[in-house]
Amino acid sequence: MERLHKYLARAGVASRRKAEQLMLAGRVQVNGQTVCQLGSVVDAGRDEICIDGHKLSLALQQRYFIFYKPPGVVTTLADPQGRPCIGDWLSKEHGRIYPVGRLDYDTEGALLLTDDGDLVNRLLRPRFKIPRSYVAKVRGKPSPAALRRLCEGVVLSDGKPAVALSAKPYRILKANSWVVLTVTEGRYHLVKRMFEAIGHPVLSLFRPAQAGISVLKMYPGQMRALTEEECVLLKAVASGTCQPPLVVGLPVRAAGFSVGK
Ligand code: URA
Repeated sequence: MERLHKYLARAGVASRRKAEQLMLAGRVQVNGQTVCQLGSVVDAGRDEICIDGHKLSLALQQRYFIFYKPPGVVTTLADPQGRPCIGDWLSKEHGRIYPVGRLDYDTEGALLLTDDGDLVNRLLRPRFKIPRSYVAKVRGKPSPAALRRLCEGVVLSDGKPAVALSAKPYRILKANSWVVLTVTEGRYHLVKRMFEAIGHPVLSLFRPAQAGISVLKMYPGQMRALTEEECVLLKAVASGTCQPPLVVGLPVRAAGFSVGK
């Protein structure tokens, strides 16, 4: 048994709060009866649950995919400007899934896609502070003091503060470096603006994993369903019962592999 508003959120119908509003508005029926009482519970395997008379699937199977987003792809299902977008990789068999957050056009790496609205909410809400790690190639060689500044807090170009959970060198090249930066929020261009604030602009940005789900053994443009084990990990991370494992590596080309699609 589970709370009805939670079930509706899990089904991707609405956020939990909006699901409660739907209930209060008398738009939710369970076994033919309108249910307005918040806190009502349902058995998703037995009860017939409808919104405005439209039946939700009883054998609700949520879908979870991981995509290795290549650089040069917009994180939307369609792009009016005709640029490559996530929608280009989706077909009917994926169902109605949506990206969990965004990566910039030029950023590559892990992007989860799902129809589990509740999970999306938990992973993205700043108040849950779920760590997000990026591997950034930056100009120059940030000193230990510069990396410390990222963890103590920097002021971004818009005057707002930002702080990293950790910032560690990963590979030092001749003129540039790869640095692993972990933050707990997803503000617009956050990683790029944080490195800008310490005078080491980002040259390329890679997210090796999202919520612990890794793309390190995948190639850019590859999409696959999560394994059972990964689904368990993802749900544990989203519910706050475990921290995502730190996954660190370089994007395919930088790591010296060739790319095939
Ligand atoms: N921070 C950025 O600056 N860009 C991204 O794509 C993700 C995080």
